[in-house]
Amino acid sequence: MNLILFGPPGAGKGTQAKRLAERHSLIQLSTGEMLRAAVAAGTGLGRKAKANMDAGELVPDDLMIALISARIDAPDCAEGFIFDGFPRTVAQAEALDAMLVEKGLSVDSVIAMEVDDEALIERLTGRFSCAECGAGYHVTLQRPSVDGVCDRCGGKRFDRRADDNAETVRSRLLAYRRQTAPLLPYYRAKGTLQTVDGMAPIEDVTRQIESVLA
Ligand code: AP5
Repeated sequence: MNLILFGPPGAGKGTQAKRLAERHSLIQLSTGEMLRAAVAAGTGLGRKAKANMDAGELVPDDLMIALISARIDAPDCAEGFIFDGFPRTVAQAEALDAMLVEKGLSVDSVIAMEVDDEALIERLTGRFSCAECGAGYHVTLQRPSVDGVCDRCGGKRFDRRADDNAETVRSRLLAYRRQTAPLLPYYRAKGTLQTVDGMAPIEDVTRQIESVLA
């Protein structure tokens, strides 16, 4: 099974992708996480992408398409994958369609999560994650069971993303509206788009997605 989780910044793509990946033994392909790893490692891709990411802009299509084309060829993707943050422009979607045909693959479902702008801003500006295992939390919406201790690995150090400040969040939402939202009619026309209420609690959103996939 190959899926696309679609939605604006903070819609819950990463949260749901992790849950679905565990339940269905799929690989989560988060282009944002791949880019942040490239920036941290100081690779050529990371150096090219950093300024765009810091400004809340999209990274150029050619870099993203090359990154994904190479990644889905890896053996761990053979059982299926979940795109989290890709495609993000019509050009990326068209390139994805072409590369999947070439590789004899297809996307089974595109699941769009709908969330109000106000909630998106609250979610992003309050988000943090475990520095050891990457588990995601929120200062009010999803706290660890014991303050300061990661539920998953017991880690005690936490990080915040550099692009989760109010100004960059505004730019990311603008980029979503201008460049990414036009993909909704693109996938609706193909008949693969399903919509879920991303305002619901995390567990309910997972249930909605599972019923779409059933
Ligand atoms: P990326 O890392 O993809 O960020 P994003 O799309 O902005 O999405 P986020 O990861 O911020 O949000 P999410 O939807 O995963 O929400 P989450 O589950 O964490 O991209 C970063 C940058 O990389 C881009 O700006 C761009 O520069 C570049 N980039 C990446 N891909 C690219 C591409 N294809 N092309 C070009 N450039 C690209 O949830 C958010 C918070 O809300 C969490 O704290 C969570 O606990 C909470 N939460 C989640 N669901 C719920 C719920 N149902 N109820 C209450 N709280 C919830």
